[in-house]
Amino acid sequence: MLAEQTSPSSAELVARAKAHSFFSWSAQDAVNPIAAVRGEGCHFWDADGKRYFDLNSQSMCMNIGHGDRRVIDAIKAQADELVYAGPGMVTRVRAELGEALAAVTPPGLDHFFYGTGGADANENAVKMARGVTGRHKILARYRSYHGATFGAITLTGDPRRWASEPGMSGVVRYYDPYKYRSLLYREGDSDAEFVRRCLDQIEETLMFEGPHTVAAILMETVTGTNGVIVPPDGYLQGVREICDRYGILLICDEVMTGFGRTGAWFGVDHWQVVPDMITMAKGLTSAYLPLSAIAVNDRVFDHFRKNVFYGGLTYSAHPMSLAAALATIRVIEEDDLVGNAARMGRVMADLLDELKAEHPSVGDVRSIGLLGCLELVKDRGTKEPLAPYTGGGDVMPKIAAYLREHGVYTYVWRNLLHTNPPLCVTEAELREVMAIVNDALVLADAAVEEK
Ligand SMILES: Cc1ncc(COP(=O)(O)O)c(C=O)c1O
Repeated sequence: MLAEQTSPSSAELVARAKAHSFFSWSAQDAVNPIAAVRGEGCHFWDADGKRYFDLNSQSMCMNIGHGDRRVIDAIKAQADELVYAGPGMVTRVRAELGEALAAVTPPGLDHFFYGTGGADANENAVKMARGVTGRHKILARYRSYHGATFGAITLTGDPRRWASEPGMSGVVRYYDPYKYRSLLYREGDSDAEFVRRCLDQIEETLMFEGPHTVAAILMETVTGTNGVIVPPDGYLQGVREICDRYGILLICDEVMTGFGRTGAWFGVDHWQVVPDMITMAKGLTSAYLPLSAIAVNDRVFDHFRKNVFYGGLTYSAHPMSLAAALATIRVIEEDDLVGNAARMGRVMADLLDELKAEHPSVGDVRSIGLLGCLELVKDRGTKEPLAPYTGGGDVMPKIAAYLREHGVYTYVWRNLLHTNPPLCVTEAELREVMAIVNDALVLADAAVEEK
């Protein structure tokens, strides 16, 4: 007689997987993973049947939500048709995806180089910019993340870079349009005045570096993991204008902000600015399979009509991933997820404002569409962060543990608590999950009161 099959428990799966796994961004003994077994919409379940609301869309990537049969079926159908073709071949899905992407990217950005993730997209964009301009330097910001491979981590400005330094040569920093903490912001500044100071700082950096040595200015259109820094109106237009003046290429990293996350197809659409290149990944396939793309304009593409592009990946234009992307774009369109992100984004912004009004530990809330975060402080007057810039402290881990215990998964690091649900979220779901965040913030308030 066959032994009865029982599903392994969370504890068993964690123990077996941990025995042979090497986890990212962690001291290995400290990891405490969830054993995820299935997902649907905004929720996923662990091996013990516990349900979690996914307030971070996993890694800010499952834009369409979990378990969408339309994408799963498209992946299966592609597997039946053709699982793989080398990067130098064309496939039916490659032809179809190029057309679908060109229809949603900003005008003029209609040639696509495919890779496997955000980091390689940014590195290849830098290679392209250097090739086109014959210049070497890249201006990138401090409060930024562009990926973890050697070049991308050098482009990254946040502390995740430190362990990999000195890294790639030629990266120069400029300041972020971060009104809440920027030294460039003076109390009472209008947006226009603050933008002017930010743009002047870029101009001054270019003067010091020599604009003729700068290939590209790189930015996350809206900063993601470093705290949802939404640029004030005029900023992006101003950077575009500076780039044009000096023949510098503008690269917008939309790995996190692309595919509806901000309530528009791409973050740049909010300001009608068209960069020379957009890098994308995450929402491109909603992470159903790994894929990145760089959308480039004619200036970039024309250079490489005659000049060899020295870059490539075995999995470039992998048909399975392209099929996932094509199906994802159709789901976003069919379900009007860009519109829903804009509508639910307004609800989320109101809920974030309510949390700020309720809790003295909330120094600032920022969001655009369904990309949001709370910035927690010990003191609203001094803005002293609730955790150091390098992370740690004891309060933020307590908040993360409370949320997890109460069935909410999200990204909590440094003094930031992120709110990035899948774009299919409903108002009722948003209210329910934010009520749990509201309860968790009592722990943060206690740290304020104890001061
Ligand atoms: C803005 C941004 N760029 C690049 C990356 C790197 O993407 P990947 O992890 O796919 O290499 C990330 C990942 O979080 C990101 O948020």
